[in-house]
Amino acid sequence: MSKIKNSRVLVTGGAGFIGSNLLERLLKQDNEVVCLDNFSTGKRENIIEFDKHKSFKLIEGDIRDYKTCKKAVTGCDYVLHQAALGSVPRSINDPLTSNEVNVSGFLNMLKSSEEAKVKKFVYAASSSTYGDHPGLPKVEDKIGSPLSPYAVTKYVNELYAKVFSDIYEINTIGLRYFNVFGRKQDPNGAYAAVIPKFISLLMQKESPIINGDGSHSRDFTYIDNVIQINQLAALADDKANNTVYNVAYGENTSLNGMVDILKDLLSQYDKSINLVKIVNGPERKGDVKHSLADISKAKELLHYSPQYSFKEGIREAVDWYWNNYGN
Ligand SMILES: NC(=O)c1ccc[n+]([C@@H]2O[C@H](COP(=O)([O-])OP(=O)(O)OC[C@H]3O[C@@H](n4cnc5c(N)ncnc54)[C@H](O)[C@@H]3O)[C@@H](O)[C@H]2O)c1
Repeated sequence: MSKIKNSRVLVTGGAGFIGSNLLERLLKQDNEVVCLDNFSTGKRENIIEFDKHKSFKLIEGDIRDYKTCKKAVTGCDYVLHQAALGSVPRSINDPLTSNEVNVSGFLNMLKSSEEAKVKKFVYAASSSTYGDHPGLPKVEDKIGSPLSPYAVTKYVNELYAKVFSDIYEINTIGLRYFNVFGRKQDPNGAYAAVIPKFISLLMQKESPIINGDGSHSRDFTYIDNVIQINQLAALADDKANNTVYNVAYGENTSLNGMVDILKDLLSQYDKSINLVKIVNGPERKGDVKHSLADISKAKELLHYSPQYSFKEGIREAVDWYWNNYGN
């Protein structure tokens, strides 16, 4: 399995969920790692353990500032660009800020990476780019119209990356993440992702509210699969470059099925969690009904081989949340 070693890597959004997990792995593999983050949704506690690491450098700054991006990327071999404002509802409530960060900030990072002549610019794309396309499983070249401002921003990232790789000498890879979950994902706040939010509510014996009847399904993807593919993408040879890949496990689970598994696993720590009632609320604007990835392109061109199914990953995640947030 390809691993990034003895390199200098910039992880933007390194204080966030995915970024901090990438940082941790890269430091273990003897890399010098630069983290650029403005802590808007990321947390200091996610990176506090790396503070004293001699190969770790934190730049507290904003990707909306071009000079900051230039400073952060100087001397780096690879960029793993994760910084963005996630969440469909957040982008519906405040499309202007989502656009500034996810589009202008992205462009700043792309341009500064091109000027710094990095070996590869790997960026977090999103399954939301499939929008209203009805096809299942989702195949990279068949996308529909975006269903939210967030989806627009993530699609614009792909367009810019393609144009840059055509015009300038920069190699890019976009990773369309499908509902990533795992350790360090924020369970709190209005825009928390469904898995950590539900684990947290169940641990407090409060009822999670499912938007809709729970038949919606997602290709929930464990963080370690995402760490693997970021490294494969960074090290991939020319024929795999300048395109986008689905990042998922390739199986979908309904929201109802996911909650049942969470209750089962958490009841092993506290039996009464099994009695917590699940509530159904109205459907949410901008949500797609089903999401399932075809991962054959990533398997073929990047040699991606996801090690964790949803069931394997969720066990690890629940264990981590219980140890960190449980009683
Ligand atoms: N988690 C998922 O399921 C998922 C799915 C699809 C795509 N993505 C994408 O993956 C990336 C990482 O997502 P995550 O789940 O780790 O989110 P996160 O919110 O935990 O991490 C994002 C990080 O970016 C930082 N950031 C935000 N705006 C910034 C700015 N202007 N300047 C510098 N730093 C800034 C935040 O402080 C945070 O640390 C994002 O680009 C997101 O859109 C995530």
